[in-house]
Amino acid sequence: MEDSNSPDFLDKFFLNCSFATRALHAGEHVGQPQHTSHSGAIYQSSTFVFQSAAEGAEIFAGERAGYVYTRLGNPTVRLLEAKMNALEGKEVKLANPKDVRVSSLAFSSGMSAISSSLLALCGQGDTVIMGDVVYGATEHLAQNVLNRFGITTVEVDTSDLNAVEAVLKKHPDARAFLFETPTNPMLACSDIEAIAKLVKATNPRMMVLVDNTFATPYLQRPLALGADVVLHSTTKYLCGHGTVVGGVMTTTHDEVKDKTYGVIKDVGGSPSPFDAWLVNSGIKTLPIRMDKHCANAMEIAEFLEAHPKVERVYYPGLETDPHHAVASKQMSAFGGMVSFDIVGGIEAGRKLMDEIEIFTLAVSLGCVDSLIQHPASMTHACVPRDKREKAGVTDGLIRISVGIEDSADLIQALYDGLAKV
Ligand SMILES: Cc1ncc(COP(=O)(O)O)c(C=O)c1O
Repeated sequence: MEDSNSPDFLDKFFLNCSFATRALHAGEHVGQPQHTSHSGAIYQSSTFVFQSAAEGAEIFAGERAGYVYTRLGNPTVRLLEAKMNALEGKEVKLANPKDVRVSSLAFSSGMSAISSSLLALCGQGDTVIMGDVVYGATEHLAQNVLNRFGITTVEVDTSDLNAVEAVLKKHPDARAFLFETPTNPMLACSDIEAIAKLVKATNPRMMVLVDNTFATPYLQRPLALGADVVLHSTTKYLCGHGTVVGGVMTTTHDEVKDKTYGVIKDVGGSPSPFDAWLVNSGIKTLPIRMDKHCANAMEIAEFLEAHPKVERVYYPGLETDPHHAVASKQMSAFGGMVSFDIVGGIEAGRKLMDEIEIFTLAVSLGCVDSLIQHPASMTHACVPRDKREKAGVTDGLIRISVGIEDSADLIQALYDGLAKV
């Protein structure tokens, strides 16, 4: 049986394979007590059987490998974690070139991955530096939960390296530096490598955490660019089918993994085995899905940019986008998310969201089918208005998650929808 307590590892064979091969094969044998099922099995069990009282005691004491209880570890969850090692871990430069270890932990939600990582890293009196545009709940976590435990958050526009330098000068002892790139919902991009260098030059112990949900490891690998921790809402592209709420963190630091595992153990937040299995299945088609998401989003961004009822389009793939250069440097393509300001503000936006065909009016993103939503009243409603508007999240901003339908149908739907506005 795979040792559920052993350190995670990168499968060295799969490190030499392309992303698509790793997405399909890496991890498939990991954590599975039996090797006979072709598809990794779903161990939908809360607890595991000991062969004898002595064996149970040894497993509990850490003297013998074995599963105990699903909050503490589960074969199906291990499989997903092993696959994530192989996807986020490629090209990571560790101190010892022979040491290709990175570790992943799966969670019951993206927010659980983010909150558990921050709780593992920070304690009372600590400071977290955070991007000024992040998912609404991440912002809420900082302002309404972490602050109650004496953890202070300082915000910075991470796409401005001068601002990053200034905030680091002011807070050299911060424990963590967390940002999204591209951001939700403004699609602003920040230079991961440059930020990691600035952070490490200020304080080598400050951890750089990147929320890679919008890009996925197929398009961008923050650990290879110097980040210490990568976070995902697997709810989105990694699962890809809108059937799971889940999260994952991957790190190059054993002690960060161990501390975060300690938070899962005691606070909870481990995923259901069935959900982990669904995410693992979804990842197998991530490359071909992302190729189509990206191609469709590019076409749609170009269509919207030329439309008279659209004031401004936010998509880092457009050469006119201020974040195009940074995105081109660190991403292999620009993702499937597009935001835009509609002429006529919120009233026009409401009309479009109510009238449009094919696009489903729903939050979340990264599904195979296209979604449309209004950040100011939905995903980012919990961010105070002045802060929201300062970040560009105006009442007229619409965010679309471009699916993998035929692009001509999506453009026709947008064309017809905008005609009714
Ligand atoms: C960038 C980003 N990070 C984290 C989350 C939180 O993920 P979850 O809803 O799985 O908790 C979201 C959710 O939309 C997100 O967009």
